Amino acid sequence: MIAYNQLYEIMKTPKANQKGPLNNIDDWEDDLLMRYPESGDKAKTKEEFRNYVDSERVDTVKEFYRLNHKYQTYNFVVSKEQEFLRLNKREMSLWEAVDFLNTLIDDSDPDIELDQLQHLLQTSEAIRADGHPDWFVLTGFLHDIGKVLCLFGEPQWAVVGDTFPVGCAFSDKVVYSEFFNENPDTLNDKYNSKYGVYSKNCGLDNVKMSWGHDEYLYQIMKDYLPEPALYIIRYHSFYAQHKENAYEHLMNKKDVEMFEWVKKFNPYDLYSKAPVPPNVEELRPYYEGLVSKYLPNTIRF
Ligand SMILES: [Fe+2]
Ligand SMILES: [Fe+2]
Repeated sequence: MIAYNQLYEIMKTPKANQKGPLNNIDDWEDDLLMRYPESGDKAKTKEEFRNYVDSERVDTVKEFYRLNHKYQTYNFVVSKEQEFLRLNKREMSLWEAVDFLNTLIDDSDPDIELDQLQHLLQTSEAIRADGHPDWFVLTGFLHDIGKVLCLFGEPQWAVVGDTFPVGCAFSDKVVYSEFFNENPDTLNDKYNSKYGVYSKNCGLDNVKMSWGHDEYLYQIMKDYLPEPALYIIRYHSFYAQHKENAYEHLMNKKDVEMFEWVKKFNPYDLYSKAPVPPNVEELRPYYEGLVSKYLPNTIRF
């Protein structure tokens, strides 16, 4: 359990809980919006456009991916699994985890940017408004909670960003793939062929993905949620597959079926930013019911 004075200390020092290069842990998502604009989304206001092409932000996102692609090796992923998947960092209720995550303070545009809780609620409320099943709503509500890794001192490039398989050739469909030249696995014959350490259609469950908030939260939630929810959590940042279809050769039949849910989820994650922030107090009772239906009182992180 986290002591609230500890939370307060973290909240007082916004920069201390984020190790660059991004000013805001979510700035890489602007790059996603440029790569994958919402269909029919031509009527961007000048102001929105300015936010997207903010050149300093483009530079920090580029540097973020350079570090990500350089350091996310097969062995790095193995070492992070050993470090984090014992789930012995903290035991918290989901609500404590949400409050904890919300201490990731954005120092760039406090008036414009949403805090983490608002992003989660906007995603889940958009799913709910479309009449989807309750587990899908819950998945929207918790899909980014793995970002608490930042608060455990992890660098941004090991928490967020597009994910991709390690242990086999990096696809040129992965964003900024030119930076894989700096990744030592590119020169390692064990890891640099099409299948690498894997085999044709071996199934993604046998494939190690670059380390970040997706895999971490999947491992935390895997005993509690239905299979499509777990696929959404585990692969929601795997754009090279769910948008570009670059790794189908590693997927089995079940993966292909389940990715329909990952694709269904993606627009809620990317495009649900409504101008009016959700009313947390009003929504809380509904989400408390949902959380207690699926999750135990405390969860190990
Ligand atoms: Fe995410
Ligand atoms: Fe998200």
